Amino acid sequence: MNTTVNRRSFLKTTAATAAILPTFNILANDDKAITIGPDDAQVNVGVIGYGAEGEILTDATVKIPGIRIKAVCDIWPYRRKMAKGRLKSLGHDVNVYEDYREMLDKEDKNIDAVIIATPDWMHAEHACYCLRHGKPVYCEKEMSNQLVRAREMVLAARETGLPLQIGHQRRSNPRYMHAINNVMRGNNVLGRITHAYAQWNRSVAPFITVKPKIHIPIETLQKYGYENMEQFLNWRWFAKYGGGPMVDLGSHQIDLFFWVWDCAPVSVTAIGGNDYYNRQMNDNVMAIYEFKTKEGVINRAFYQVLTTSSRGGFYEQFMGENGYLTLSEIAARGNTAAPEPGNDWNKFVKMGILNEAKAPVAMQERSSNVALDSRVTKAAAGMPLPVDLLKPAHMPHLENFFLAVRRKNPKLLNCDAELAYESAVAVLAANRSVASRQTVYFKPEEFKVPADAKHDPAKAAGEQPKQA
Ligand SMILES: NC(=O)c1ccc[n+]([C@@H]2O[C@H](COP(=O)([O-])OP(=O)(O)OC[C@H]3O[C@@H](n4cnc5c(N)ncnc54)[C@H](O)[C@@H]3O)[C@@H](O)[C@H]2O)c1
Repeated sequence: MNTTVNRRSFLKTTAATAAILPTFNILANDDKAITIGPDDAQVNVGVIGYGAEGEILTDATVKIPGIRIKAVCDIWPYRRKMAKGRLKSLGHDVNVYEDYREMLDKEDKNIDAVIIATPDWMHAEHACYCLRHGKPVYCEKEMSNQLVRAREMVLAARETGLPLQIGHQRRSNPRYMHAINNVMRGNNVLGRITHAYAQWNRSVAPFITVKPKIHIPIETLQKYGYENMEQFLNWRWFAKYGGGPMVDLGSHQIDLFFWVWDCAPVSVTAIGGNDYYNRQMNDNVMAIYEFKTKEGVINRAFYQVLTTSSRGGFYEQFMGENGYLTLSEIAARGNTAAPEPGNDWNKFVKMGILNEAKAPVAMQERSSNVALDSRVTKAAAGMPLPVDLLKPAHMPHLENFFLAVRRKNPKLLNCDAELAYESAVAVLAANRSVASRQTVYFKPEEFKVPADAKHDPAKAAGEQPKQA
C-alpha cells in the first residue's frame, strides 16, 4: 500500500520510525514524489578502490543488516584477489573488475549503490560517473585534491538528486554528535568557544614499498595515470593525486570547526614545508583559521599536522569561556570536558549531558608551583561524555548513507556533497597559503557552488588522462 506524507512531518518522525517501514511516498517538493523502501530492504553494493580504506569500509558495511557487496573494482590485481578472498570469508561472493566502467556496465542490474575509496584525484571522475549511471555514492574524503572537481561532484549530486555521502565519518559518530550538538551547541556548556585546536601528529615513516612480484605492470599503471609504483603506493605525497598530510588528515578535523561554529572561515594563514623528507607535498603544516560566526564575532582555530613526531597523536580541542572539551576518534585520546574555575557543571551531570569526573575535577591554579601538577592532571582527566561508539568508526556513517539510499532521500545524509564542499574549500586553501606565504581570504559565496552552475562531466576528470 502506498501512502503520501509531507516531507517536514516525515522528517520529524524519522527517528521514531527508524524500524521497518512499509513502502510509501513522501513529497520531496511540491511536484516530485520520492518512493521509500523498507529500512531493511536489501541493498547491493559495488566498491571502487579496495585499498586500506576500501577494506575498512567493506568490513564495516558487511556488518549492516541487508547490505550485500556484489562487485569490487581495483586496478591492482593483488587487491582484487584480496577483496575476493576476504569478502568470501565474510559470506559475500563478489565479481572483481579492473575498470570501474566495466563494473558499472556489467553489474548495472546487480548493484544499487557504490562505495568509492580510490585516491583523492579519482573521486570526482568515479563519483560523477556512478551518479550519472543512477547509483547513489558513498565517497571517501577529501572530495578531491582539486576544488574544480569537488564542485563537479556537488553538481552531479544536484543534477541526479541521488545521495552522495562524503566520508567525514565523525559527522555520524554518536560521541561527536553528542559533544557538538548537545554539549557545545545545544546546551552551550562551554559558553562562547573562542578557540579551537586540532592536531594529527605521526611518527617518521618511509615511503610504502611492496615486493616486486606484486607490482602492477608499468603499462597498466600508466594507463590509469600513475607514473610508477612509488607514486601509486604513496599517492598522498604527490600533488597530482592528493593534497599531502594537510588535506589527508586535516580534512576530517577542519570540518569539525565548521560544525561546531556553524559558519565558514574568513581567512587561513598557514606555514609549513617539505622540510624533512624531500617529498613533493608539505610534511608539516601549521594553519590558523579565523571563523566569523553568525553573531559577527571572530573565533580562531589552530590546526597542526606533523609527520615527524607522534606527540599527542590526533585529537580536537574546543576552548570556551566556561570550559574546554577534548575529542578524538579514539575515545581514549579524547572524550572529556572540564570546567574553568567558578563553573559548577553538576547540573549537566544531572541532565545526563556529561558524566561525573572519574577523579575530582581540580581547578587549575594560577601558579607555576610544580607541586600542583597532580591536581592539574586530575583536572585534565575531566568529565567523560556519556555516549560511546560501540561499532567500527565508519559504520554509523555508512548506516546513515544506506538509510538515505533505502528511503531515496539525500536530505537524510549527515555529510552530503554540499556540506563537505564547504570544508574542502578551506582545507585546500591551506596548501595555497603555505605556497604563497600569504593569508588566503575567503568570500562567503566561495563555500557554495552557485545555484545556476551546470555539471560538466569532462571537468570532473580535470587535466588527468581519462581512463583508457
Ligand atoms: N575516512 C577515513 O578515515 C579514511 C582513512 C583512510 C583513507 N581515507 C580515504 O580513502 C581513500 C583511499 O585511501 P587508502 O588509504 O585506502 O589508499 P590506498 O592506496 O591504500 O588504496 C587505494 C586503492 O585504490 C586503488 N585504485 C587506484 N586508482 C584506481 C582506479 N583508477 N580505479 C580503481 N581502483 C583504483 C588502488 O589500487 C588501491 O587499492 C582516499 O581518498 C583517502 O583519503 C579515508
